[in-house]
Amino acid sequence: MPSETLTIVDNRTGRDYEVPIADGTIRATDLRQISAKEGDGGLMSYDPAYLNTSSCRSAITYIDGDAGILRYRGYPIEQIAEEASFLETAYLLLEGELPTAEQLAAWEGDVRTHTYVHTNFPKFLDGFRYDAHPMGMLLGAIGALSTFYPDAKHIADAESRYLQRVRLIAKMPTIAAFVFRHSRGLPYVFPRNDLGYIGNYVNMTFEIGGRHEPNPVLQRALEILLILHADHEQNCSTSAVRSVGSSHVDPFSAVSAGIAALYGPLHGGANEAVLVMLDEIGDVKNVPAFIESVKAGNGRLMGFGHRVYKSYDPRAKLIKKVADQVFEQTGLNPKLEIALELERIALEDEYFVSRKLYPNVDFYSGLIYQAMGYPTDYFTVLFALGRLPGWIAQWEEMLNDSEQKISRPRQTYVGHDVRDFVPMSNR
Ligand code: CMC
Repeated sequence: MPSETLTIVDNRTGRDYEVPIADGTIRATDLRQISAKEGDGGLMSYDPAYLNTSSCRSAITYIDGDAGILRYRGYPIEQIAEEASFLETAYLLLEGELPTAEQLAAWEGDVRTHTYVHTNFPKFLDGFRYDAHPMGMLLGAIGALSTFYPDAKHIADAESRYLQRVRLIAKMPTIAAFVFRHSRGLPYVFPRNDLGYIGNYVNMTFEIGGRHEPNPVLQRALEILLILHADHEQNCSTSAVRSVGSSHVDPFSAVSAGIAALYGPLHGGANEAVLVMLDEIGDVKNVPAFIESVKAGNGRLMGFGHRVYKSYDPRAKLIKKVADQVFEQTGLNPKLEIALELERIALEDEYFVSRKLYPNVDFYSGLIYQAMGYPTDYFTVLFALGRLPGWIAQWEEMLNDSEQKISRPRQTYVGHDVRDFVPMSNR
């Protein structure tokens, strides 16, 4: 027995049990030995929405929600956002260490050689209606990649996993840009591999008639936003990727499940919902009434609150800085005034203070994306682009963890006891 243990007394039977504590957790399966009567299967823990359940051991991202700390592989997010490129950050998340100059060059080279998609791909995207939501297109398109690369099912082969990792990171910007062009009825622009990762993506998105004037300040701002989104431990979409991936499906299908989870307004879709909310509020003078209606239970203040952060989201702090740089280039987003007033009032209001509701990553990101020229329903695609390295890193960590099995929670059955089928004529 390890030195740290927990003694549990079962008051139903008077028996006591000693279970080991490791890394501040007990194993839920250790509760199974606690049984009140023969055949009851043993005690389970009930934890809807996993409020207090650690589903894995992970060495990728560290969060201290009370202190507002976020680190990738031990490095503070503030330093990574200041110093690193997006592909460097992706390498760090995926490989566990910062790359040397040689490793980074090789990684960038591998990604650059895989930016093109199969010529059938634009035809596949053409099948979507002109007004299809970009996130719906993205999740379908990334899932469809599995049909183009059936070798991706060899998930036990590290070389194959590396190839799929490169394909995903390289092709996602191309697909995300195609999705953008489809929504606007613009012809697809193909990758330009003489440009960097961000430059190529921005060019594929905004080029018109072979021309696009790059703005290095806006491109670096976008890169920082992607870095800030690159991983966030066991959030809803990452848990979806891990859970779906645990069935040993290919990574394109697993990532597509992550995109589906991210689409929801309580997760990545919140950046879109924030802009819709700011539009609804319409004017600074309407902010107090809006806050009152949220407090009365009519909807939520989107972009506020977080399951883990119970203080200011460190990413939101960094995003506010990026916003200043972007608005210097683009002019002020008129909705910023409403957002600042919402934040000011909410941070003083008892309702939000007592529930520890602070601005999260999505509160200001939408305003920046809008200033950069992205339409509201496209914002979450940018979140997905940023989160991709995290999803892949977490997927591979799950596969290499000998303790992991197919994800399959238990349930507490509260339905009817056995009863006889009632014929239609008697119902
Ligand atoms: N506005 C108003 N009240 C809120 C909000 C909000 N944004 N968030 C939580 N609350 C209240 C909630 O009503 C509850 O109050 P009470 O105790 O009186 O019932 C209390 O705060 C706790 O809320 P919860 O729903 O138990 O908290 P949770 O940890 O399950 O939810 C959350 C976290 C992020 C889903 C939630 O805060 C929320 O819906 N926020 C708005 C959507 C949003 O901005 N999502 C982006 C999250 S960050 C990026 C990402 O994950 O993609």
